[in-house]
Amino acid sequence: MTFHDVRHRHRYLHLLYLTILLLTTSTTGDDAAVMSKLSTSLSPTPSSWSTNTDFCKWDGITCDNSNRVTAINLPSKSLTGSLPSDLNSLSQLKTLAVQRNSIGGVLPTLANLTLLEQVILDSNNFTAIPTDFFTGLTNLQSFSITDNPDMSSWTIPENLNQNTNLQSFQAGNANIMGGIPDIFDKFPNLQNLRLSYNNITGALPVSFGGSQIRNLWLNNQKQGLSGTLDVLSSMTQLEQVWLQANVFTGAIPDLSNCTGLFDLQLRDNQLTGLVPASVMSLPKLVNVTLQNNRLQGPLPVFGSGVVAELGSSSTNSFCLTTPGPCEPQVMVLLEVAGAIGYPLSLAQSWEGNDACQKWSFISCDSSGKYVTSVNFGKQKFSGTISPAFANLTSLRSLSLNDNNLVDSIPEVLTSLPNLQLLDVSNNNLSGKIPVFPERVKFVHTGNVLLGQDVSGGPPGSEPGSGDTGGNSSGSTKGVSGGLIAGIVIGVLVFVVIILFVCYKCYLKKKNQKPKTVQDPEKGKEAVKASDLQSQSSGDQTEMSVFEGGSIVISIQVLREATNNFSEENVLGRGGFGVVYKGILQNGTKIAVKRMDSGVMGTKGLKEFQAEIAVLTKVRHRHLVALLGYCMNGNERLLVYEYMPQGTLSQHLFEWREHKTNPLSWKQRVSIALDVGRGVEYLHSLAQQSFIHRDLKPSNILLGDDMRAKVADFGLVKSTPDAKHSMETRVAGTFGYLAPEYAATGRVTTKVDVYAFGVVLMELITGRKALDDTLTDEKSHLVTWFRRALISENIVKAIDQTLDTDEEDTLESICKVAELAGHCTAREPYQRPDMGHAVNVLGLLVEQWKPSQPDEDDGYGIGDHMSVPQLLQQLQADEGTSRMFDDSFDQTQSSIISKPPGLVDTFGTSGR
Ligand SMILES: Nc1ncnc2c1ncn2[C@@H]1O[C@H](COP(=O)(O)OP(=O)(O)OP(=O)(O)O)[C@@H](O)[C@H]1O
Ligand SMILES: *[C@@H]1O[C@H](CO)[C@@H](O)[C@H](O)[C@H]1NC(C)=O
Ligand SMILES: *[C@@H]1O[C@H](CO)[C@@H](O)[C@H](O)[C@H]1NC(C)=O
Ligand SMILES: *[C@@H]1O[C@H](CO)[C@@H](O)[C@H](O)[C@H]1NC(C)=O
Ligand SMILES: *[C@@H]1O[C@H](CO)[C@@H](O)[C@H](O)[C@H]1NC(C)=O
Ligand SMILES: *[C@@H]1O[C@H](CO)[C@@H](O)[C@H](O)[C@H]1NC(C)=O
Repeated sequence: MTFHDVRHRHRYLHLLYLTILLLTTSTTGDDAAVMSKLSTSLSPTPSSWSTNTDFCKWDGITCDNSNRVTAINLPSKSLTGSLPSDLNSLSQLKTLAVQRNSIGGVLPTLANLTLLEQVILDSNNFTAIPTDFFTGLTNLQSFSITDNPDMSSWTIPENLNQNTNLQSFQAGNANIMGGIPDIFDKFPNLQNLRLSYNNITGALPVSFGGSQIRNLWLNNQKQGLSGTLDVLSSMTQLEQVWLQANVFTGAIPDLSNCTGLFDLQLRDNQLTGLVPASVMSLPKLVNVTLQNNRLQGPLPVFGSGVVAELGSSSTNSFCLTTPGPCEPQVMVLLEVAGAIGYPLSLAQSWEGNDACQKWSFISCDSSGKYVTSVNFGKQKFSGTISPAFANLTSLRSLSLNDNNLVDSIPEVLTSLPNLQLLDVSNNNLSGKIPVFPERVKFVHTGNVLLGQDVSGGPPGSEPGSGDTGGNSSGSTKGVSGGLIAGIVIGVLVFVVIILFVCYKCYLKKKNQKPKTVQDPEKGKEAVKASDLQSQSSGDQTEMSVFEGGSIVISIQVLREATNNFSEENVLGRGGFGVVYKGILQNGTKIAVKRMDSGVMGTKGLKEFQAEIAVLTKVRHRHLVALLGYCMNGNERLLVYEYMPQGTLSQHLFEWREHKTNPLSWKQRVSIALDVGRGVEYLHSLAQQSFIHRDLKPSNILLGDDMRAKVADFGLVKSTPDAKHSMETRVAGTFGYLAPEYAATGRVTTKVDVYAFGVVLMELITGRKALDDTLTDEKSHLVTWFRRALISENIVKAIDQTLDTDEEDTLESICKVAELAGHCTAREPYQRPDMGHAVNVLGLLVEQWKPSQPDEDDGYGIGDHMSVPQLLQQLQADEGTSRMFDDSFDQTQSSIISKPPGLVDTFGTSGR
């Protein structure tokens, strides 16, 4: 620490002499010694600093009457060197000002300098500050150490709070790290706190509230200050607030009491919510910046004298780019978000002025106008349930489960006319349990305090009974007719409760009667679903819990169904894991794909659930339905409907091994059409367009009637921004990859069209897309086939098992071959849409069965086909029909609206 330059060594003797002289001849004692140290440790010292002169006469030094140093003022003197370590023996020192030099080294402690008022160290090269630097500086008013970038990281010391006279603390760009200590209730005079350009983290301390701070500069912290700005509203002396370039969250607080505020810099944070009117009407406001946040609601309007930077719509989430009110429904949802502190996740997704435009957690009706479902389940939201939900009159399903919501459930929610499901389970709600109409499935378990103060009974009791009891006991006390009247009424109420409970039990029983659905075409029971349903409605841990429309199935149920994942139940193995056959207790067959977490990449639980929620809604008769999922530790299990005839690839390439007949041409065209329709549906999904990316015969599954369904869509592959999906995984299989996809990773629907073309070629030739057993020129099917097509040699390429004697068969094959060539065109834009392929194939299929109506319009394709729809139907019965979101597929709404017996009559979907 004491650092002596070589240059100074020659002075040692001289110094020693001088010190002895001063000590013996002067009354000032210590100060002389320290001052001579100061003079040697700094250079170049001013010319007046001669060793022969009294240090009280030196430039920049002030002494009191007893020749004690009271001030050291050496600003802008080009000084280098360091300060002597025992500077604090200048016990009368009031001012130390050495700003704008190049003084370096470790700062001396200033501990116990009880008279010290000012310390100005800005713009130097100090390297460290001792921990006891601020000890006992009871008169310190101003400290500044701004622009000392060479400082090793330090934290604002807690013991600064001893210096209760502090008026100004400035330490911008001084390498401070750590949090702001909560000591600001100790400085009644603190006006300036300037700590910009450091690496201070954490939240604004509570003790800022009620402080006298006027200048608050905390902008541009490297990692960023976080938390909310709420404390600002009680910092009533604020004049200049620089908080830009941090990571503050939450809403801008009410600043109506900060009447002196003229400069408010909040840009470059993560602020959300509406800009409060109190901010727009601040009387002294001159400058305000708000850009690069996630502020919501109407564009704020400031007075004419205010320079306001609000940012474009892209750098905030204002509903409109011009001032003016937002849509009423948008305002309602913002109020809802406000009750949970305007979470950033909502502000990022809830953009624009139309809540039905892909806002997360929101679903709308088929007209795309009215919100029918809000699903905030498991979002770690905290706050309260806004009564504004009651203004969403089309709301059918409201899931707020598994959050940290407090306070009561607003009574007004009972008036929602279309509500079918309200799930508030697993929160910290309290207060009265509202009574909802019979149609509403109301889940409120896991709220320890809920209903306690009303009924005094155990939490989670029947809403009806608990509430009736509570009300009546209250009114009993209010009756003035005396004890007898009270008893009579009490007995009456008791009887009413008993009757009510019995009625509920009766209803429940009635609902639980096994349901069977007649399949009119086959004239037999399609499936008994009571098994599924009892599991789903009964034990929450067993099955069901409808999260965003998906079904959680417990690992126990799956273990039972697959005989504990026994080897003999293995249906096949894919790149992602093993697929098992399973049978539920009621005999329904399922396929369980068991994959480990690695498959999902870094996808979190939430993301996985969100994805599943979407996929369970993606339903089409030519897509293998995802029935539910299960998470067990790191593994994820997906439950699909079972497809008894396995994959197209088995029937096309391995029919000898499986001892089955080769597929006829009719079957092949029909399979091609099914696949085409499934993929067309995926491509045309309204809310989130899906691109399969891995279409191939092993992902095409067959039912007992040899009708096909596409499997393996969406999961791991669906991204909102499919064009840049390369980041997640290069999906696809060699032989089926479109050239532009293989080369650049750019994904469009034309990638699927290409793969579909390859599948068509496989159907025609019975050959695999890539066959290493063949010579190079033949091994790549597309190249070989297209060459055959050009040389009009297609007949040679046709699968030998196909019977081409019938003239129209050959004609049909040629048409499909032509389509296959078209689909595999080199440039994506040259390839047709899936819809075109469906039209071409549709004509060919019709030609085979001119008398039959397109059986595709029917529903009863096979027993197993009914399972997903039945699940839906059952849930609809249960009042949880939010699972089907009309906007996904019109056919779904027609399923819902028709009784089970009519289910098979709806029209063709995906058109
Ligand atoms: N729903 C189902 N019904 C009947 N069998 C199925 C079902 N799903 C998958 N299988 C069988 O399990 C096998 C493996 O399927 P999986 O989807 O895991 O792999 P893949 O499609 O062959 O390859 P990849 O994982 O690369 O897509 C299939 O080949 C098929 O035989
Ligand atoms: C400050 O004073 C206290 C009490 O007199 C003493 O214990 C401490 O050592 C002093 N600190 C310094 C750095 O002189
Ligand atoms: C002191 O700090 C300034 C500003 O960072 C820098 O330009 C200068 O080189 C430093 N001087 C020394 C001697 O380190
Ligand atoms: C800021 O501080 C945090 C720890 O508080 C540290 O992890 C981070 O690396 C620092 N950032 C910089 C740029 O120094
Ligand atoms: C503003 O001050 C008044 C009076 O002290 C107080 O009642 C009110 O709650 C304060 N407003 C805010 C937003 O803090
Ligand atoms: C307001 O901002 C402008 C430019 O951004 C600046 O020149 C002006 O000094 C600021 N006024 C106040 C009062 O801060």
